[in-house]
Amino acid sequence: MNRITTLFGIQYPIIQAGMVWCSGWRLAAAVSNAGGLGIIGAGSLHPDNLREHIRKCKAATDKPFAVNFPLFYPQLDEIMHIAVEEGVKIAFTSAGNPKTWTGWLKERGVTVVHVVSSAKFARKCEEAGVDAIVAEGFEAGGHNGREETTTFCLLPAVRQATTLPLIAAGGIATGEGILAARVLGAEGAQVGTRFALTHESSASQAFKDYCFGIGEGDTKLHLRKLSPVRLIKGGFMDAVSKAEDAGASAEELQALLGKGRAKKGIFEGDLEEGELEIGQIASIINHQQSAAEVMQDLVDGYHKALEKMQGGH
Ligand SMILES: Cc1cc2nc3c(=O)[nH]c(=O)nc-3n(C[C@H](O)[C@H](O)[C@H](O)COP(=O)(O)O)c2cc1C
Repeated sequence: MNRITTLFGIQYPIIQAGMVWCSGWRLAAAVSNAGGLGIIGAGSLHPDNLREHIRKCKAATDKPFAVNFPLFYPQLDEIMHIAVEEGVKIAFTSAGNPKTWTGWLKERGVTVVHVVSSAKFARKCEEAGVDAIVAEGFEAGGHNGREETTTFCLLPAVRQATTLPLIAAGGIATGEGILAARVLGAEGAQVGTRFALTHESSASQAFKDYCFGIGEGDTKLHLRKLSPVRLIKGGFMDAVSKAEDAGASAEELQALLGKGRAKKGIFEGDLEEGELEIGQIASIINHQQSAAEVMQDLVDGYHKALEKMQGGH
């Protein structure tokens, strides 16, 4: 038991990250049923679909689960109201100012966790009254902080900046990784990439198979002029790279990105035209497992690593 397991009412301090086009009710319920905290990623769900996912998740698990709200979502007000109406008890907000929604959610009895990529924003979270922080290093999949701080540098900086319960994210895909994060002051770990590649993830099989084959250096941070995002090598990354090398403006990059690229890549499996996002740690993941198998492996790996350390090996 620690502050994270107590805050959420879960068995293990392992959180499955909210991830567009990957984390619907199926993945969230599977992780929650296995003793972690599953998260439905609202970022890729139409408001009506979010309601359906929440209802299905509730039917599939009697354990706690959460919803992730990227704060740039166009109909944010509507999805926040839906989540509260449907009785969501834990919200993970990201990609925005923690002050905007924390008070509103907390007044409605919702536990609020905010994702940060710098110590400066961790302090803002404390001022905003959030219950816990996710500190996400830039090796993570998805959108990343402009500071490009790695998880190993970010955790001690955030730990110095705030006493709030702290969850580490970015590059954690093993029990050993969770132990390392805990040594650096985190009380829980948010795991994205490894869960994105499980059976229950709603990403397309083509996307998952492609990710199993990628190696070191195959993901890179791009689109810094818009919102920095870690892309996987392939047709779309080549096009972005070329445009950036030629000095493309933010408007030109926005036009190149267009609409629906991430859906095309991750959900529909168009490896050439689609935007493909995964974390650096994908280079060590090469086969598909169920979410429960991943949970078991994380827990076993953590205990084995701890025993090894305590034994002085
Ligand atoms: C495919 C993909 C989609 C993601 N989408 C979101 C999202 O919608 N909201 C969010 O806050 N973070 C998103 N992330 C970041 C994760 O929530 C998480 O913090 C990150 O994956 C952790 O690092 P890891 O990938 O190294 O495990 C995404 C990550 C991936 C791989």
